[in-house]
Amino acid sequence: MSLSRTGRVAGIVPAAGAGVRLGGGVPKAWRLLGGRPMVSYAVDLLSAACDLVVVAAPPGFDAPDVGATVVPGGATRSASVRLALALLDDDVEYVLVHDAARPFAPPSVVARVLDALRAGEQAVIPVLPVTDTLKRVVGTEVLATVDRSDLVAAQTPQAFRAAVLRQAHREGADATDDAALLESMGATVRTVPGDPRNLKLTVPHDLVLAEILVGP
Ligand code: CTP
Ligand code: MG
Repeated sequence: MSLSRTGRVAGIVPAAGAGVRLGGGVPKAWRLLGGRPMVSYAVDLLSAACDLVVVAAPPGFDAPDVGATVVPGGATRSASVRLALALLDDDVEYVLVHDAARPFAPPSVVARVLDALRAGEQAVIPVLPVTDTLKRVVGTEVLATVDRSDLVAAQTPQAFRAAVLRQAHREGADATDDAALLESMGATVRTVPGDPRNLKLTVPHDLVLAEILVGP
């Protein structure tokens, strides 16, 4: 029942990226990790918490084994999310967006963002404090050291009231995460603790590390 307190929850997995920085000749989300496509980890995670899961896959990429609805993605991450969002029925109340490039997100992070949403927030993202010292540079020259005391690194899954996420995507803007689109329209985005295990796999070394974490 869509009128219930908990509402229908949909999951979106942006997985349509080429994985240029990772390389390997296969779209990143379809690179094997522990013997199965990377995207399957995100699908499994969201399937446990969502009534339906939509994967934005590289256009023309056949993914019959993913166990979710597959839609061809767009030229950017935001476009891919939009194409998946367009498939969702109006009775979906909450949407979780989780990058295929984060196969190790634990269920506890999903629970944290969803709990905050159900408690009344409209947008919730998991974050971690920044631990490196941050420098502003031009070319190879350091201009300044950036005060990191109010900086955090944003992870996914990011959780939204469906209506607000649809509104944020209406203009067709691009950003590296969905929360940024809400921020630019003045909506309140709340943070909850992320998880250090929730690594984003971007460069070849990340996949080496990931294979070690998955284990034999
Ligand atoms: N993504 C997407 N559609 C795009 C670009 C990215 O769905 N047109 C997804 C990726 O598949 C990934 C997530 O957005 O799960 C985060 O993007 P990123 O880590 O940058 O992955 P890629 O874009 O594939 O990698 P690269 O930028 O190195 O090409
Ligand atoms: Mg990218």
